[in-house]
Amino acid sequence: MVNKSENWNLTVLRDALAASTSAADIVSNTLLSKPDATISFPTGSTPLGMFDVLAARTARGEADFSNVTVFCLDEYVGVTVADPNSLTRWLSEALLERIGVKPEQLHKLPVTAVDLVESAAEYDRTVSARGGLDLAILGLGPNGHIGYNEPGSSADSRTRVITLTAESRSQASAYWGGSLTVPDRAMTMGVATLLESKQIVLLVTGEAKADMLRRTLQEPMSAEVPASWLRMAGSRLTIIADEAAASGLSIARSG
Ligand code: GLP
Repeated sequence: MVNKSENWNLTVLRDALAASTSAADIVSNTLLSKPDATISFPTGSTPLGMFDVLAARTARGEADFSNVTVFCLDEYVGVTVADPNSLTRWLSEALLERIGVKPEQLHKLPVTAVDLVESAAEYDRTVSARGGLDLAILGLGPNGHIGYNEPGSSADSRTRVITLTAESRSQASAYWGGSLTVPDRAMTMGVATLLESKQIVLLVTGEAKADMLRRTLQEPMSAEVPASWLRMAGSRLTIIADEAAASGLSIARSG
């Protein structure tokens, strides 16, 4: 049962297109209230519809990303943007180039640094120094990860290197038909780093995510399902789901 004493927001919409448009509306509203907002976007297939809406709005002059700063959410260790595996490259091609975000507006995770621990901490401090992100848009991993905060990630975890589960590596490889070998470590913004965001959107679509969304929202918060920690953000968290993803919830609330 969804715990109504928790005051996060759940919006359930008919299908993935409606959910994507709703998430894009939150991005647009953030731009209107703060043209120089700091934002993070997820990779994966879920946000592609939202990316299309944002690209179309930019082309029509209805959205202006020229003053935003984008922080990458996660990246594989040792990978450069020249690598086909690169999540930064993927995000650039799928979204950033289409909405006019230039490389100098993008903070990349320091995955090729000599001292990964210190470099990750420095990235984290850069986000915190801005008072956290203005908007973090997140997807839900099949195993409950957010960014690459894999199961076992604590609520106070910060930006760091993490060893990926076999499940996540095979999920990532599947985007290229299984033809790419995915590195076994990634750097991800931490759960606590994300919880500092002024607004968090968890975008979830499709029936395959229904049980993980149920565990995220209806089971006690735990490191087994890192996405569940997002509920600690209270009213700063909005979950946008389509009906298929919300089909496992005991109470489907709208609005
Ligand atoms: C990937 C990414 C996440 C993404 C998630 C879900 O591994 N690291 O940022 O949200 O898994 O991906 P999809 O939307 O394709 O289901």
